Amino acid sequence: MTTGIRRGLTRYGDAEFSLFLRKAFIKAMGYSDDALERPIVGITNTYSDFNPCHATVPQLIAAIRRGVMLAGALPMEFPTISIHESFAWPTSMYLRNLMALDTEEMIRAQPVDAVVLVGGCDKTIPAQLMAAASADVPAIVVPTGPMLTRTHGGERLGACTDCRRYWAKFRAGEIDPGEVDAVNERLAPTAGTCMVMGTASTMACLAEVMGTTLPGAASIPAVHAERLRLAEASGARAAALATEQLRPSVLMSPEAFSNALVVLHAIGGSTNALIHLTAIAARRGVRIDLDRFDALGRKVPVLVDLKPTGAHYMEHLHEAGGLNAVLRELAPLLHLDVPTVGGRTLREVIAAGEVVVGQQVVRPLGDPIYGSGGIAVLRGNLAPGGAVIKHSSATPALLRHAGRAVVFDSLDDLAARIDAPDLDVAADDVLVLRNAGPRGAPGMPEAGYIPIPKKLAQRGVKDMVRISDARMSGTAFGTIVLHVTPEAAIGGPLAWVRNGDRIRLDVDQRAIELCVPDDELARRSTAGLPPLPELASSGYRRLYLAHVTQADRGCDFDFMLPAAAGGVAPV
Ligand code: FES
Repeated sequence: MTTGIRRGLTRYGDAEFSLFLRKAFIKAMGYSDDALERPIVGITNTYSDFNPCHATVPQLIAAIRRGVMLAGALPMEFPTISIHESFAWPTSMYLRNLMALDTEEMIRAQPVDAVVLVGGCDKTIPAQLMAAASADVPAIVVPTGPMLTRTHGGERLGACTDCRRYWAKFRAGEIDPGEVDAVNERLAPTAGTCMVMGTASTMACLAEVMGTTLPGAASIPAVHAERLRLAEASGARAAALATEQLRPSVLMSPEAFSNALVVLHAIGGSTNALIHLTAIAARRGVRIDLDRFDALGRKVPVLVDLKPTGAHYMEHLHEAGGLNAVLRELAPLLHLDVPTVGGRTLREVIAAGEVVVGQQVVRPLGDPIYGSGGIAVLRGNLAPGGAVIKHSSATPALLRHAGRAVVFDSLDDLAARIDAPDLDVAADDVLVLRNAGPRGAPGMPEAGYIPIPKKLAQRGVKDMVRISDARMSGTAFGTIVLHVTPEAAIGGPLAWVRNGDRIRLDVDQRAIELCVPDDELARRSTAGLPPLPELASSGYRRLYLAHVTQADRGCDFDFMLPAAAGGVAPV
């Protein structure tokens, strides 16, 4: 096999000339022939002034380079797109596939024998794992790691669960502008990713259990020296991978995805992770079966006492032994003989992990924080392709509820009317948001956390049943039905709900029902859908709108899915 600097030569019809030219140019950067004869480890640089979750990337890369060189290989850093949740218009999800394409093609285009993927903020690790799955070059993930916490009034704060909680208090008039500004100063006190079990932490945990990181990678705080040592070790390991050629296609088996799905339930992880795992798995031909995932949730309880489901933060999970403490409890439910990128099986990794006696963050399997898995899959005439609810973060009394629909047609409609004093809404109504799905919004924004109408919030209403074809931040909480599939914009039944219709939610029965006769729904649907004005657009937007799939297929592009079937997960 062609390796190192001879890999993937630019085509001029004369390979020796291509190599001659390549060496001539790279020598302009001072590389010697000795350096250029080594195996090459690529390192993705996702630093951006717009991405505070990646603020430590330069230090991490310095440590990774050190590790690569100590192991005798040549580190070569290259930039890719970087995505931060708050600096991505229209949404970060809209850009995830672009980052995946960028990362995949740059891995493929450049002569790297192995690659270190430095990611962290919500969509970055998913995009990088999608890219790794497709490019199938040996890859190791180094998450940027979670932020540390700060306090306000003696109470610990965490981004972004408490961002939402304090904003809700402000909307309800419980705190004044001065206090909400003070909280704003303290919600993100260090570099790193959100320190609750949001999407970033969830994806880091799933990357770790799938064996694509070294042990401990998910939970070491971003600013701890330990993370730099992990980065150095990952660089050294990547140099070995360049020779061993342990590829993502070996690591990303149905068993590895099954382990990830078990952990997703047990950590009370983000609903977004289900979409991302579906997309990553699909690139290896593995189908994530939503109904099997739901059935798995009946046997896998939530063990990790972290916000938004519980009380603690990622730094506490780290002190409690990290993800390994969770895996030890889950061992009877995991496929333990899967390989990991470090060279050991998952069984060996778990056996070597630290046991922290007396820790309070990871519960034993027999004494969980929540009796079943964190996420349930709902079906019914409102969501023939499925919908999800993170019931571990919901109000128990609302998990079985029927109420009158109060419908918002779009994000603009929601913004215009949600706080209107004359909005006809009561606490036991069901708030419905549509045209906020993958194509409708576009980009499936995290708008499923529909705010409680101000007039109800001011009366003390904290939660209501909310339903949409949107996503929700993994840091949010509430009785919120998400990812309704198919979305309204392509004619899903959500498009035909009217104000005053009755909607029934029964999480125990896994049911989401629009209580309107079929013939009436059929009659409504003859009215047709408004055209998607965005379809007239060009460039990436046109590509996205023409090819993005629905949530049950991972919202990847339809042309990315491999022809060969690689199995079903969970197994
Ligand atoms: Fe980057 Fe939360 S905004 S992880």
